[in-house]
Amino acid sequence: MPVLTVGGRRAAYLDAGSGRALMLVHGAGGRGAVWGPQVAGLSDVAHVLAPDLPGHGGSDGPGCTRVAEYAEWLLGFVDAAGLGRVTLGGHSMGGAIAQAVALAHPDRIDGLVLVGTGARLRVLPRILELFRKGSPEAASLVASLSYSPRTEPGRVVEAEHALRETPPLVTLGDFLACDRFDVMAEVKAVRAPTLVVVGRDDVLTPPKYAAFLASAIRGARLAEVDAAGHFPQLEQPAGVNDAIRAFLASLREG
Ligand code: COA
Repeated sequence: MPVLTVGGRRAAYLDAGSGRALMLVHGAGGRGAVWGPQVAGLSDVAHVLAPDLPGHGGSDGPGCTRVAEYAEWLLGFVDAAGLGRVTLGGHSMGGAIAQAVALAHPDRIDGLVLVGTGARLRVLPRILELFRKGSPEAASLVASLSYSPRTEPGRVVEAEHALRETPPLVTLGDFLACDRFDVMAEVKAVRAPTLVVVGRDDVLTPPKYAAFLASAIRGARLAEVDAAGHFPQLEQPAGVNDAIRAFLASLREG
């Protein structure tokens, strides 16, 4: 995995393709690899980068406990990579980070891809409690809520492993960041062209959250994905890649 230095610390990332930059940000307790099918499958139409957030995967810690802190780190990563404006995608907490960047630094992005996320991300108290205790049940509970009942278990193994490999206190910080995140009132100010993607079987960030984003953000497109839960990009990679590919093409026409 290539590495950059962000804020004096090592930042690892997946990187493929060339041309216009598509930056993909993972969610709580994850790593860039949750975008594996997009890094591989969209590299013919974009320069796809998927960093490990600080404290996750191959990136040095500490992690953060606020979405705005991750958003600043991400802009540091974009600068360190020598990129100008990027198309910014995010999954779950990564989608919150993408919204934060779009609201605070609209000049840094030319498009927004929001996958399995929402403008407000309250977290089940039981999830916070188990991560606080460092209980092994924490990852099992989140994993049990993460996928469509129709998803073949083999396809999600990578994401489950990533959750178990992240230190529980880092994942706790992520879920606290989610729990504090609320831009329901502000998100209508987003002006970037936006694609919202949600799995129809998502119980962690249900389709209602995606419908809200798509109605609040002017001109946003909504892609609802069958037979997918909270990880549509892993559960139905071909359909999600088609939706992102069409969205990227529309940005180039615009
Ligand atoms: N978009 C649109 N509507 C939203 C929303 C979003 N991002 N977030 C909350 N709402 C709505 C809820 O649907 C609810 O509407 P209702 O009153 O019509 O039922 C209302 O706003 C209040 O919901 P919420 O803020 O979530 O508080 P709550 O006390 O009702 O529920 C939880 C708290 C934790 C039980 C609930 O948020 C939940 O089940 N979350 C999903 C599970 C989870 O932990 N996800 C992890 C996200 S990282």
